[in-house]
Amino acid sequence: MKRFIAPFLLSVFFTLNLFAQNTVTVQTDSGKFIINKNIYGHFSEHLGHCIYDGIYVGDKNKDIPNTNGIRNDVADALKKLKVPLLRWPGGCFADTYHWKDGVGPKDKRASIVNQWWGGITEDNSFGTHEFLNFCKMIGAEPYISGNVGSGTVKEMTDWVNYVNGAPAASPMSKWRVENGQKEPWTVKYWGIGNEAWGCGGTMTPEYYANIFRQYATYLTDVNNTRIFRIASGAGGDDTQWTEVLMKNIPLGMLQGIGVHHYAVINWDHKGSATNFTEKEYYTTMREALRMDDIISHHSAIMDKYDPQKKVALGVDEWGAWYDVEPGTNGGFLYQQNTMRDAVLAGATLNIFNNHCERVRMANLAQIVNVLQAVILTNKEKIILTPTYHVMEMYNVHQDATMLPVKVETENYVFENGELPAISASASKDKNGITHISLTNVDASKAKEVTIELKGGNYKKVSGRILTSDKLQNFNSFDAPDKIEPANFNAQIKDNKILIKIPAFSVVVLNLQ
Ligand code: AHR
Repeated sequence: MKRFIAPFLLSVFFTLNLFAQNTVTVQTDSGKFIINKNIYGHFSEHLGHCIYDGIYVGDKNKDIPNTNGIRNDVADALKKLKVPLLRWPGGCFADTYHWKDGVGPKDKRASIVNQWWGGITEDNSFGTHEFLNFCKMIGAEPYISGNVGSGTVKEMTDWVNYVNGAPAASPMSKWRVENGQKEPWTVKYWGIGNEAWGCGGTMTPEYYANIFRQYATYLTDVNNTRIFRIASGAGGDDTQWTEVLMKNIPLGMLQGIGVHHYAVINWDHKGSATNFTEKEYYTTMREALRMDDIISHHSAIMDKYDPQKKVALGVDEWGAWYDVEPGTNGGFLYQQNTMRDAVLAGATLNIFNNHCERVRMANLAQIVNVLQAVILTNKEKIILTPTYHVMEMYNVHQDATMLPVKVETENYVFENGELPAISASASKDKNGITHISLTNVDASKAKEVTIELKGGNYKKVSGRILTSDKLQNFNSFDAPDKIEPANFNAQIKDNKILIKIPAFSVVVLNLQ
């Protein structure tokens, strides 16, 4: 009997539209802008165990299967993730890094003390060749952050010539060939400094704008590789920084601005990554969802100076930042990753997708073992975190055409505050398949959502969900598969879909 009641009730719901409190309306025939795949980029800094042990274990390592020192398990997982873009070597580290120390025979490389992150000595065995070969291995485009804070224009232009020059074109490209790499790597994305307002030199925006102009003058195309220059952008909502940069840097010199925004409860008390209260959850989500306003505010300023949107807004560092795991080095920023992080990632990626006309690059901080990592490693073991699974579920949006969505949602209410519970974004890919991604931020209430597909004629829907029974759940080295995507059933009738999204869950639908 039950078998007949469920479809009957569903059709009553469809007819009477009883799920109407939350509505996502998708304009399926009005797509104009591409969701640049680089919105799904990542960030790898010489910080803690991101590079050493996380990505690179050294080519003499017999315990952890590797290819030229790169962990095979990590590389395979990242290939599957479809990482389009990888930023390196920092962060704050970038403005202390002297790339020439990291090329040539490994036993002759000068070491470096990582002054920002734990004060440890690194042997520079992972340098330019290792990074660029790693990018090739996983199919990601490299994005190199140059040293402005303690470097020189010559050092950076030498770097461009080293990696991009034709084999015999300059002393730098000849040196590259001597070091074993004949063909240039054609690196397009170059950051001119990092957080110039802070660890990158504590500069004023006016001063940095001039420095940027100076660097950009000499950072020119080499060997037909078009250079994409990215300025160090604002921290969070500092729109004055963007205003000064946009006003003072000639448009032709500037291809992108990289804003940073972390979801932090409080810099003096960031809270545990796993053992958190609903208040801490709410605050993290509130801080994460500020991304929408931050992007809108910077975009409005950019629109004033660049109405044709030639300059990309990048968010080249984003994610959640908590206290380090107990017993780990405070300077290594190693944190676990729960369903809170999954929801945060889903909601943030929806924001980026919906702003894709201006936001054309973003880099989650950071790729392995640091902050909101997609992979955690422990000796020969790895875990794919809930954030990994969200990035993987959402990769269907990469380079697809964004479809405008209108979201009418109930609020997630906590104490005196409230946040929109449902967020969504949609796209149509090159094969004509439409994907809709939705998150329910509410910590305890499932949400019934009506999805209305305007301007299309859809017959089939399937889906995947990332959910768990506790917000604080995470994948551990003992239970690495506790949280994994599962199939999600939905039905479509008359271009309408009615679904129920559990609390703190992420859903991606596939429509044909
Ligand atoms: O991602 C960690 C640090 O956060 C980066 O090095 C820096 O750019 C930012 O402040």
